[in-house]
Amino acid sequence: MNILLLGSGGRESAFAWKMSQSSQCEKLFIAPGNGGTTAYGKNINLDPNNFEAVKAVVLKENIGLVVVGPEEPLVNGIHDFFLQDENLAGIPVIGPKKEGAILEGSKDFSKQFMARHGIPTAKSRSFTNQTLDEGLKYLQTHVLPIVLKADGLAAGKGVLILENIGEAQKELQLMLGGKFGAAGSTVVIEEFLTGIELSVFVLTDGENYVILPEAKDYKRIGLADTGLNTGGMGSVSPVPFASEAFLKEVELDIIIPTIKGLKKDKIDYTGFIFFGLIKVNEKPYLIEYNCRMGDPETESVIPRIENDLVELFLATAQKRLNEVKLTISPKNAATVMIVAGGYPGDYEKGKMITGLDNLRESMAFHAGTIAEGGVIKSNGGRVVAITSLQNTQFEALQCATADAARVYFDGKYFREDIGFDLI
Ligand code: AMP
Ligand code: GLY
Repeated sequence: MNILLLGSGGRESAFAWKMSQSSQCEKLFIAPGNGGTTAYGKNINLDPNNFEAVKAVVLKENIGLVVVGPEEPLVNGIHDFFLQDENLAGIPVIGPKKEGAILEGSKDFSKQFMARHGIPTAKSRSFTNQTLDEGLKYLQTHVLPIVLKADGLAAGKGVLILENIGEAQKELQLMLGGKFGAAGSTVVIEEFLTGIELSVFVLTDGENYVILPEAKDYKRIGLADTGLNTGGMGSVSPVPFASEAFLKEVELDIIIPTIKGLKKDKIDYTGFIFFGLIKVNEKPYLIEYNCRMGDPETESVIPRIENDLVELFLATAQKRLNEVKLTISPKNAATVMIVAGGYPGDYEKGKMITGLDNLRESMAFHAGTIAEGGVIKSNGGRVVAITSLQNTQFEALQCATADAARVYFDGKYFREDIGFDLI
């Protein structure tokens, strides 16, 4: 079968690496892909949000399965687009329809969903321009710190954590006034939870689900989790503080109510659900849903899955995930993200990357790279994810960190401390 994978990051590199190993994968196309994905298939230069362009490739290349990596095409309705087109309707798409992707696309919707289905989460209320005065008043008695969230997709920048009421009131006005565009036309005001974060993922066919290995992501740019938030600077899987008992609680309190809630609400969901969790006093709380896999969590999670990924996707599309038994490697994965100097602020692209052939104990999953005239150059903020799979977490961390040091480009930066806090 020919397969089309949409996206261009480290997550998609890990998917492509794994899918290309499947006996069911004839030709793999990655659109647009990056400088590394050509090792697993053919890159096609298109924008995944241009559904007509996606359609043209699907028909031309006789694609039998479409896997959507990022959230944007899902929130924009790519799965619905396929179902509404008579030439595409029979082609399975991994990723939810609009009605399911809204779990990520609208924080207000997802908070209401959690409340409706009894899923533990931070207390919150939502406000719009019409209810601004009420919102300002509500803030006056709010405990500190205060979390403000733009309702819609804001490229990971729509969450603000504020230490005083005046600042929160000012930010609420700015957000409702258009600071994040339409994404901020509704703002969720939320109680701040203190705890340690982790990510849990399921793949669901709407009826059944499999729980993938959990992971922890390191979001801050600086050593010891300091400085600005990024898309993610590294990840580990498994997560040592997620005991079997804790993960069972996650399943009972959060995963099962979510799957049942989707059914109750008549949302037919096919694809990944990413549960952004926080452990507070040993109990799991749900901070957010994403309708896709995490990046760089995927780069640590996928290498631990021993099943054929294409078979998993076909079982998802055919609603027979109940027949699948997931086999997870007991090994430990660690991923260190190498980023461009300046990221997550302004940074330069087009820097020649060397040393990718010198890795000793790790794999390189390209993210923001491009192949130009036989040379790999940087082409984004997060450039290459270095993943190592070893018997112990310490070994995995050491190997990934040492191998990240073997890659070079002008201005490169990576965190040398990813995961060591957990040892
Ligand atoms: P989100 O986009 O909802 O994942 O929020 C981004 C990040 O903000 C999360 O990964 C947390 O680190 C932080 N955050 C969001 N909501 C809360 C909360 N209620 N309490 C504490 N931290 C939060
Ligand atoms: N690493 C967090 C995310 O993918 O949203």
